[in-house]
Amino acid sequence: MKKHLLSLTAAIITLTITAHDTIISGIPWYDDNGDIINAHGACIVEDGGKYWLFGEYKSDTTNAFPGFGCYSSSDLVNWHFERVVLPVQPSGMLGPNSVGERVKVMRCPSTGMYVMLAHTDSLDYRKPMVGLATSPTINGDYTLHGPLMYKGEPIRKWDMGTFQDNDGTGYLLIHHGPVYRLASDYMSADSLVVDIKGMGEAPAMFRRGNTYYILTSGLTSWERNDNWYFTAHSIAGPWTRKGLFCPEGSLTHNSQATFVYPIVHNSDTTYMYMGDRWSFPHQASSATYVWQPISFSSDNSISIPQYIEAWNPYSAQAAEIPGRDLWSGTWTADSTGNKLVIPFHGSGLAIYGTTSNRGGYARISVYDTSGLLLHSQLVDFYSKVSHNGLVYISRDYHPGNYTAVIEPTGEFPVWSNKKGHRFGSTACTVTISRVTVR
Ligand code: GLA
Repeated sequence: MKKHLLSLTAAIITLTITAHDTIISGIPWYDDNGDIINAHGACIVEDGGKYWLFGEYKSDTTNAFPGFGCYSSSDLVNWHFERVVLPVQPSGMLGPNSVGERVKVMRCPSTGMYVMLAHTDSLDYRKPMVGLATSPTINGDYTLHGPLMYKGEPIRKWDMGTFQDNDGTGYLLIHHGPVYRLASDYMSADSLVVDIKGMGEAPAMFRRGNTYYILTSGLTSWERNDNWYFTAHSIAGPWTRKGLFCPEGSLTHNSQATFVYPIVHNSDTTYMYMGDRWSFPHQASSATYVWQPISFSSDNSISIPQYIEAWNPYSAQAAEIPGRDLWSGTWTADSTGNKLVIPFHGSGLAIYGTTSNRGGYARISVYDTSGLLLHSQLVDFYSKVSHNGLVYISRDYHPGNYTAVIEPTGEFPVWSNKKGHRFGSTACTVTISRVTVR
């Protein structure tokens, strides 16, 4: 018992919390308590001078609904975990062994209530509906009311998104095209505004000036694909299919759209693409966030021409990842028992590597000089298209001597869709190319 207490104290005093000012895509993020940020299929709402991030509070073992979580921030980079605002319900559409995904929250201007909509389903994805919940405060307990209704019937569809127009009208976006206008209290859908031909899954809408945009993905389960977009001058259409917004074959920089958040700063707005880099089955640990600034051309076309590892959300400028080279080379291993051991002096590490269709999960652990494990993180080295880049940045520690250990776990992401089609990796390779220390 005494040993445990001592270990805990050592771990607490070793971890420091440093404010950061860049958004870094594709790596596990930690909150102000040093815990993993678990908010997938997310959205951001600004309210009361803060940003609020809502998302699926994923588990590492099952796809069953784990609750929807809420984080707050004053700068879109440093996040504080508020709470699970809608936990697993005792029974019903978000009860045990259900699915709850793509949670979206909007403040309804006519009632002042915070209205949450989400994809609800059975575990086999055969009973899709849109769940409706409300709370009088943004980070309070959301009360689940049941399915969102249209003409007295539940909307029986899966991937969804929401959009709030400048006049406060709320919209529900549905996979494969339907866009519903919500009633003025946001508690039902009151009209089917348009059915956009050629749409896929993961709808995310935003408006810039008088142009509306909707992003969408192909239907490949947790696998990434090349997402595309449409534009229109009215939500009712006509909508024009514009093509891809990321380089073809990059599979949307290895992500799937979930939301676009306009970051307003003085007189500038940066439209931030928010995507999920899923990692089944270890979504809570290893699925990461791909948040990238969207570029606009004079004809209102959009693109994310390059994947920017780190950038400042207010300037939209790319930033350096702090650190100096400690190790570089090629270290590849695909079975347990192999370890890359990296002693370092400093306050943290960044690790770069290659992800590929033979990639698996690595465990990256940081120990202090007494051999005490300070932190351990699962990192996913799978991607259908190969990519070399940043895969991990450690938590911040008091400057000192530490050892990082990287080892394959022998596990890799693999899953099937409801038609039984197999997706994912075929091996558990881990490839490291560079380590920097800060
Ligand atoms: C797609 C959807 C996700 C989730 C998975 C399940 O990626 O966009 O929200 O439903 O399929 O396979």
